[in-house]
Amino acid sequence: MQEEVVKKLEEIQKAGLTDLEHVQEEQQLNEWRTCYLGKKSEVLQVMKEIPDLSVDLRPKVGMLTNQVKRNFEQGYEQRLEEIRKAALERSLQQDRLDVTLPGRRPEKGRLHPSTQTLREIANIFGQMGFQVYRGTDVETEEFNFELLNIPKYHPARDMWDTFFTTTPEVVMRTHTSPGQIHSMRENAPDPVRVILPGMCYRYEQVTSRSEFQFFQVELLAVGKSIDFRGFKGTLQDFARRMFGDNVRIRLRPDYFPFTEPSAEMDVECFICQGAGCPVCKHTGWLEIMGCGMMHPTVLMNGGYDPREYTGFAAGLGPERITMLRHHIEDIRYFWANDVRFLEQF
Ligand code: DAH
Repeated sequence: MQEEVVKKLEEIQKAGLTDLEHVQEEQQLNEWRTCYLGKKSEVLQVMKEIPDLSVDLRPKVGMLTNQVKRNFEQGYEQRLEEIRKAALERSLQQDRLDVTLPGRRPEKGRLHPSTQTLREIANIFGQMGFQVYRGTDVETEEFNFELLNIPKYHPARDMWDTFFTTTPEVVMRTHTSPGQIHSMRENAPDPVRVILPGMCYRYEQVTSRSEFQFFQVELLAVGKSIDFRGFKGTLQDFARRMFGDNVRIRLRPDYFPFTEPSAEMDVECFICQGAGCPVCKHTGWLEIMGCGMMHPTVLMNGGYDPREYTGFAAGLGPERITMLRHHIEDIRYFWANDVRFLEQF
């Protein structure tokens, strides 16, 4: 009887361990475990029969069965490790990795060239005591035109080709000048010294020199002792800080409905220092902003008494300055979102 059981257990062990040698994958190994260590396995069957054996046989057979079970468990663990190691080696072989290859540099974001110029302008005027105000991209016709001394049906409106919205009286702002009225009304009767940067929109044919959207920076100073000398000095100072100490400026008479007198400001060409080059079209001068002393009607619309108060205003185009500085020949690059253009700045 004893021999029979012992023999049976030996056979079970032999069969199990031989089978185990042929196991190649984890899935197979799990099946093997169910077969040799599961509830219906032969080892367990023998264990269940132990109580039926004679008293002196029980401990011996018990020990032996436990031994077989342990051997199976150990075999299982060992095989599992081997299989996993082999799988890892296989995957390492397949996905070979050259750790000496240089890494790929992540693209670093950077500021848009217009934003860079905008910030520079804001910094310079900030140092001169101007605050930055923000307007909205849509305005009523009243603010965009009427309050700036451009009445309905007046031919001067043709200077600004306008995008109208589906809401009557509401337009995309054609310039940042409506901000003049907003900031005056917010501050009157106190003095004002602000710049108003913002995007402007015009219903225009897009060409290399004009886009239908562009930035403008409005400059505005209102107070009791503001005169043309201070105005020109401020512009001269701005030009020096922006383009260099020796740069000269000049004001040419021009017309804007909201200023009187009005002027166009030129800076001496910072590329050829006034000698004449293709960028300044051989004139030696670059046009960078419209400006003037504020029209009394506009001061009044802002809440100031023009007999007591005066003011100056200007409108600069940061894209234009950026184009001149970096020799950019086509304004359409600015909003075309081509990274090949943008990553140069
Ligand atoms: N708003 C004008 C334009 O878009 C620019 C301008 C000219 C602004 C003269 C001013 C100014 O404040 O005084 O063409």
